[in-house]
Amino acid sequence: MYSFRNDYSDGGHPAILKALTETANQQTDGYCEDRFCLEAANLIRGYINAQDAAVHFIAGGTLTNLTAISAFLRPHEAVISAESGHIYVHETGSVEATGHKVFPIQSANGKLRPEQIETVVAEHHFEHMVKPRLVYISQPTEMGTLYSKGELSALRTCCDNNNLLLFADGARLGSALTSNSGDTEFSDYAVLCDAFYIGGTKNGAIFGEALVICNNELKADFRYHMKQKGALAAKGRILGIQFKRLFEDELYLNLAAHANMLADRLQRGILDSGFEMLFKSSTNQIFPIFPESVIVELEKYFQFYRWEKLDDEKSVIRLVCSWNTDKKDVDRFLDTLGKL
Ligand SMILES: Cc1ncc(COP(=O)(O)O)c(C=O)c1O
Repeated sequence: MYSFRNDYSDGGHPAILKALTETANQQTDGYCEDRFCLEAANLIRGYINAQDAAVHFIAGGTLTNLTAISAFLRPHEAVISAESGHIYVHETGSVEATGHKVFPIQSANGKLRPEQIETVVAEHHFEHMVKPRLVYISQPTEMGTLYSKGELSALRTCCDNNNLLLFADGARLGSALTSNSGDTEFSDYAVLCDAFYIGGTKNGAIFGEALVICNNELKADFRYHMKQKGALAAKGRILGIQFKRLFEDELYLNLAAHANMLADRLQRGILDSGFEMLFKSSTNQIFPIFPESVIVELEKYFQFYRWEKLDDEKSVIRLVCSWNTDKKDVDRFLDTLGKL
């Protein structure tokens, strides 16, 4: 049964497995001070065109979010996020468990707008309340929608005007960068965000994320924060080797483009069969709306998440294509749908 449930269902790209095997007998320093991490960090600095960015490798997305956000904030400071934001809904309150309130903002398409941020700031104006200090976004959003470069720039301006930090969760950044309807490139994130991360777990790596800190004021002692939060891996080389391989050539972007291309094929096929989407997506996650009877039949052959119940008859499901999804899997889904 093929799973469209997620983009982390596959093990790891063969080129990465090969790089890990070929280096397995070499001894290195620990805790991300090995030559592979140093090289990977340099390659990433080249891609984002920011030679003085700090790059840290961390095992997973939740750990990256909570380590970075808690390091960037003072005890009384708080985070603003879309109500669908991953840190607000799906990380077991891990940012809040570090002592920082997360304000959820309603957003049908998963994106934040400057005026919504400004309202939260205006409502929190003195020391009897927490102080909003960091805006958390993900690119793409939880809904598979994308911030344009113009929208990101507007968020940056809003953050500058209100003394806020902008942090972008890039667990699926590759998908955003290679989307047909996206207009951002790697270097934009280094310019517009105080910090962001480049997701490996969902794009060919066995696991791992690369956190990039661009704002000089946030760089000091970050490795202390990592160690204290259990985010500094003794065998950090495993992360370095993977990111080195992903950024040695265009592998990172090629894998993301493949996932987007197959999600687009799947979306077009479903639309051609007469069904609708919750949102038209241009990333590797799509959100078709099906009657319950169709969902029950599809569940016999494929795995996917039921995303949202719209009414007694219809629900939204989420289908995710990955770097390893095959055109055959997509076509089999469409054939099965066509026969229902
Ligand atoms: C946007 C986003 N951020 C963070 C995470 C958390 O990653 P992890 O499961 O590696 O902690 C996910 C995982 O699904 C995600 O989609």
